[in-house]
Amino acid sequence: MTAHPAERSGDPFASLTGQGLFPPARKRPVRMRGVTEADLPELHRLDREVFQEVAYPYFMLRQLFDMYADHLFVLDDGEALQGYVLAGTVLGTGWVLGLGVARERRGEGLGRRLMLEILRQLRNDGVREVRLTVDPTNAAAIALYKSSGFAPAAADGGLRRNYFGPGEHRLVLELSL
Ligand SMILES: CC(C)(COP(=O)(O)OP(=O)(O)OC[C@H]1O[C@@H](n2cnc3c(N)ncnc32)[C@H](O)[C@@H]1OP(=O)(O)O)[C@@H](O)C(=O)NCCC(=O)NCCS
Repeated sequence: MTAHPAERSGDPFASLTGQGLFPPARKRPVRMRGVTEADLPELHRLDREVFQEVAYPYFMLRQLFDMYADHLFVLDDGEALQGYVLAGTVLGTGWVLGLGVARERRGEGLGRRLMLEILRQLRNDGVREVRLTVDPTNAAAIALYKSSGFAPAAADGGLRRNYFGPGEHRLVLELSL
């Protein structure tokens, strides 16, 4: 038997919600801001929620904060962090090292807001070239990056096999600011 869409969604109340009996919870507005040391535990929670087994270990997140706090922005709804972006810089080149949005807040334009904010900050700081790598199968992220102006960093399409170790291919994209 084919499952009703509400059953497939895993939410037993979804069909009732659709009829307006349980209107969907209103999403809290988010505010873009920089981070302080006190945000690190919550940022670590969000990073693990978004990136799971490839999330930064706490010690690495801590050291990235130490080095790049000026290029680390979060979206805060007053109760929890719902997204973050982090970039590092080296010799006038910026690298977007992390960009993620909480699963239930995706598709609202938050990823684009984070990208615009980090590009604005990098440009203000004199960075003229920004690079990033992305899993070649990550269609959502690739669409966001390409529509933000990123293009393959090499004429061959930018695919780098085993970039993050055996079988971990990455697409390298770049943008001139
Ligand atoms: C990639 C990610 C940050 C996008 O965040 P988001 O808040 O959902 O994105 P937005 O709502 O701002 O959408 C921006 C653009 O992304 C693209 N996009 C977003 N979701 C998409 C999807 N499911 N399929 C295809 N494209 C998608 C679209 O181009 C969209 O622009 P549009 O709305 O004008 O069509 C989010 O999916 C995420 O956190 N993914 C897991 C972590 C990750 O993969 N990070 C990137 C690591 S390199």
